[in-house]
Amino acid sequence: MISARFRKAPRIERGFFSPAGRGSLVLVRLLLLLCGGIGGALSAEADLRRAEEIVAARCFLCHGMAGESASPLFPRLAGQNADYLVRQLEAFRSGQRRSPAMQPQGEVLNAAEVRALGRYFESQPATAHPANDDARLLELGQRVFTRGGSGGGEACVDCHGQRGHGSARLPRLAGQHPEYIVRQLGLFLRAERPSENDVMREVAARLSAEEIRAVAEYLATLD
Ligand code: HEC
Ligand code: HEC
Repeated sequence: MISARFRKAPRIERGFFSPAGRGSLVLVRLLLLLCGGIGGALSAEADLRRAEEIVAARCFLCHGMAGESASPLFPRLAGQNADYLVRQLEAFRSGQRRSPAMQPQGEVLNAAEVRALGRYFESQPATAHPANDDARLLELGQRVFTRGGSGGGEACVDCHGQRGHGSARLPRLAGQHPEYIVRQLGLFLRAERPSENDVMREVAARLSAEEIRAVAEYLATLD
């Protein structure tokens, strides 16, 4: 009888504690997973708030709160690819890309803030801003964009994508101010904006002034 009870006890113990033990382990794992998820979401939320603070304090003066710069002097940043944005801020900071307006902006930001700003602007909705309705000019612009210029240069779509949305390494051009595009092409051409492999210098060198104006106006019509 006693031995039977003794034999029974461990069975009860096993029956009572073991599944619960396994259950609580699963629970702990679940909680950890949940906390990790929430922690990640919280830090993403905090990053976004920090980016918003910086934009409201400084960037918005020239680029607008949602990156929709009203003045053609300042590039639109809405929908711009985060990695590209980060690299440009670093280029301004190091002086590789020269701009009296942007140099002091990059200097006071830390790496985490720069990344947060990249994600902030990338998440802002971008739209088309057609500024010119000269059908002949826009048609020429579309030809340059999709097939390249008369000088035999590569078509913009080959690198910047069918809709001009770019990629992590390449800037979005869709919806950008035409004046800004024209100015940047001039900077590439005169080697005043150095960049990786200098591909844009080669591209700009093969375009006529009219083709540059045309492709810039066409890009503004893309969203
Ligand atoms: C005083 C005006 C001014 C302020 C403030 C300013 N910017 Fe700019 N930003 C400019 C100008 C001008 C350019 C174009 C420079 C050039 O011609 O190369 C520019 C260019 C940029 C570019 C490059 C865009 C591209 O398509 O290559 C990025 C990224 C940028 N700014 C981010 C920021 C951020 C982030 C802030 C806030 C921390 C900021 N800017 C604040 C004037 C400003
Ligand atoms: C072989 C690839 C390639 C082709 C083709 C190309 N681009 Fe680019 N483009 C680039 C790269 C790479 C950059 C980024 C340079 C940097 O990091 O500063 C760039 C940057 C630019 C910029 C600067 C954007 C900004 O926000 O400051 C403009 C404007 C531009 N390209 C216009 C064009 C146009 C217009 C065409 C077609 C006529 C074209 N590109 C064709 C690779 C290319």
